Amino acid sequence: MKNCTWLRTLDLGENGFSGKIPNWIGERLSFLKFLILRSNKFHGSLPPHLSLLSDLQVFDLSQNNLSGTIPESFGNFSAMTVANRRNVIIDNGGRYSGVESIWVFWKGVQSEYSRTVSLVININLSGNDLHGEIPKGITHLLGLQSLNLSRNRLTGTIPEDINDLQRIESLDLSWNQLSGRIPSSNQLDTLNDSSIYMGNPLLCGPPLLNQCQPNEIFPDSQQLSDGDKDAKDELEIQLFYISMGPGFVVGFWVVCGILLFKRSWRVTYYNFFDNMGDRLYVAMARKHAKFRKNKGLQGNRGLPSTPSNVLHPRALPGHKSS
Ligand SMILES: *[C@@H]1O[C@H](CO)[C@@H](O)[C@H](O)[C@H]1NC(C)=O
Ligand SMILES: *[C@@H]1O[C@H](CO)[C@@H](O)[C@H](O)[C@H]1NC(C)=O
Ligand SMILES: *[C@@H]1O[C@H](CO)[C@@H](O)[C@H](O)[C@H]1NC(C)=O
Ligand SMILES: *[C@@H]1O[C@H](CO)[C@@H](O)[C@H](O)[C@H]1NC(C)=O
Repeated sequence: MKNCTWLRTLDLGENGFSGKIPNWIGERLSFLKFLILRSNKFHGSLPPHLSLLSDLQVFDLSQNNLSGTIPESFGNFSAMTVANRRNVIIDNGGRYSGVESIWVFWKGVQSEYSRTVSLVININLSGNDLHGEIPKGITHLLGLQSLNLSRNRLTGTIPEDINDLQRIESLDLSWNQLSGRIPSSNQLDTLNDSSIYMGNPLLCGPPLLNQCQPNEIFPDSQQLSDGDKDAKDELEIQLFYISMGPGFVVGFWVVCGILLFKRSWRVTYYNFFDNMGDRLYVAMARKHAKFRKNKGLQGNRGLPSTPSNVLHPRALPGHKSS
C-alpha cells in the first residue's frame, strides 16, 4: 500500500484492524483527501506526519483506542485552512461520474456525499483515549464544518479562537475533562448548544447552567478576551474613584479638624510656616547673589553653551527611548 501514492480515498472503517497507525500514510499517500479508519482497534499515538496530507478533507479516526495528545501540527492540514472552497463537480457528459463519493459520519448519522464532496471538511477523533489540551492550531482550520473530539480525556480550556471557525456546523466536545469558562460565542449559534459541552464537570458559563466562579471568569489576564479586559479595567477605575472620595474626606478632616478645634496647635502650625517662609526667602536671596558674582567672573571666557563632555541621555548605551 505504501506504493499507492496516488490514492485519494482510504476507507477502512468498521473493521477489526489493530496496531499503530503507520507513519507512511502521511509520508507516502500525499494525495489523500479522505482518510477514514473509524471503528477499528488501532492503538498508540496519532502520527504528527499526518499533517503532511495537504489535500485532506475528511479525517475520521473515531472509535479506536488511540492515546497520547493531539499533535499541534494538526493545525497545518492545508486544505482545511481554506474558508471559502468552491464546489468542484466532476461531470462526465452530463452525468455525475461517481468518481468521488464518500460516506461521512457526522451529526450522529452516516450520509453519502457525492456532488458536494469537495465541500465536506471534517475531523472526528471521538471515542478514543486522547489526553492533553486541544491544540490552538485547530482554530486555524477555517474551513472546518464539523469537529468531534467527544469521549476522550482532553483537559485544559477551550481555545478562545474557536469562534474563528465560521463555517462550523457541528462541534462536539462532550465527555472530556475540559475546564474553565466556555468562550463567549456571539457569532456562532452552533456553539450555543449545551449538549456539545456535556460531561465536562469543570466547564462553566453559558450555554451551561453551571455558573463560573469569579476567579474562573478572569482565569489569568492573558486569556481574557478584549471585552473582558475592558470590563475589568472599567471596574478598576470605578474602584479607584470610589475609594478616593473617603480617602480625601478622612485626610482633610484629620488635619483641618485638629487645627480648627485646638488653638495652641493652630498657633504653632502657622508660626512654623511663617518662619519657614522667612528662612526660604533669605536662602534664595543668598544663592542668587552668589550666582551673579560667579557669572561676572566667568563672563568673558566665551564658554560653549553645551559643554561637549555632557552626553545627551539618548546617546548613552542601554538607554531606552520610549
Ligand atoms: C514499491 O516501489 C518500490 C520502488 O518504487 C519497489 O522497489 C517495490 O518493489 C514496490 N513494492 C511493491 C509491493 O510493489
Ligand atoms: C487499548 O490499548 C491499550 C494499550 O495502549 C491496551 O492495554 C488495551 O487493552 C486496549 N484496549 C482495547 C479495548 O483494545
Ligand atoms: C506548520 O507549517 C508551517 C509551514 O508549512 C511550519 O513552519 C510549522 O512548523 C508547521 N507547524 C507544525 C506544528 O508542524
Ligand atoms: C461525536 O462522536 C460521538 C462518538 O463517536 C457520537 O456519539 C456523537 O454523535 C458525535 N457527535 C456529533 C455531533 O456528530
